[in-house]
Amino acid sequence: MRVLVTGGLGYIGSHTCVELLNNDYEIVVVDNLVNSKMTVIDNINKITGKNFPFYNIDVCDKDALEQVFKNHKIDVAIHFAGYKAVGESVEKPLKYYENNLLSTIVLCELLNKYNCKKLVFSSSATVYGKPKVLPLTEDCPLNTTNPYGTTKLIIEGMLKDLYISDQNWSIVILRYFNPIGAHKSGLIGDDPNNTPNNLMPYILKVASGELPVLSIFGADYDTSDGTGVRDYIHVCDLAYGHLLALNKLNSGLYYYNLGTGIGYSVLDIIHTFEKVNQVKVPYKIVERRAGDIASCYANPSKASKELGFKAEKNLEDMCKSAWNFVIKNR
Ligand code: WQD
Repeated sequence: MRVLVTGGLGYIGSHTCVELLNNDYEIVVVDNLVNSKMTVIDNINKITGKNFPFYNIDVCDKDALEQVFKNHKIDVAIHFAGYKAVGESVEKPLKYYENNLLSTIVLCELLNKYNCKKLVFSSSATVYGKPKVLPLTEDCPLNTTNPYGTTKLIIEGMLKDLYISDQNWSIVILRYFNPIGAHKSGLIGDDPNNTPNNLMPYILKVASGELPVLSIFGADYDTSDGTGVRDYIHVCDLAYGHLLALNKLNSGLYYYNLGTGIGYSVLDIIHTFEKVNQVKVPYKIVERRAGDIASCYANPSKASKELGFKAEKNLEDMCKSAWNFVIKNR
């Protein structure tokens, strides 16, 4: 089976490509390198011992993307390509709506034209907004608090309407919680091209001395220690979830939370990171970040029951592998 992976050189995309190649799938990767690097290709080759066709194109560019479908018979698509910085989406909403929505429309039009109606879509727990109940199940209310999350919600709606219009489509929508960590080789990891937005990349910059101190955005939330609680999942577990999702593409529309079901606070992450890596992460408490919520974690039982998905790696593995990626790439 040949899988088209859009955004396949990105953080989650590259780890999923490794998983696919190691399980004897053929892959074709398209990526415009806006938040990834060409060196990821060599590193995927080194990890898997396998090569794959790569196209440096923007998924919004229909003519360029159609050439890929003319060159390769695509059986399934996994769609990672998209902008994902919450803060930037608030400043530049049109950039997010145009890119995230148009890329998905272009991809689906070509999948339809080339009679490949099988899609795994990279969604996000952000579609749940401020949870009313925890843990989150797939049927919890959806409401978003930022343009990035709203693009994901709109795309979920588009894909639902597409399925209703033609039930020959097989669509699996995966709602990620908070991916952190890196492949054990240290060859691929979370390596944003610009200033990171997320907690772990900031911790790594402070631990490596690039930044002097970590700002903890608020310690007055209604949580165990006052800092924000999230469901952190190892990126390799998340990648494995995509492999299992491919088994579900036998017509139908499915939604799954990909999380561990365990919530950890910011201080839990800092303390675990310091302990397993024997490195200090100086921090200071500052005011809350606009749009942040106190707690968010998954009820992962639907993915467990229907996909056979269970996150295997614990917080220590996540913190150790994240730091290993930095050390190996200093
Ligand atoms: C985690 C916790 C912060 C940075 C976002 C997106 C989500 C997904 C993951 C794309 C929060 C705190 C963070 C810092 C801090 N991305 N924090 N200091 O906001 O849960 O989710 O990224 O799919 O869609 O919404 O992740 O890592 O930014 O924050 O105190 O320098 O760490 O307040 O409690 P978030 P995050």
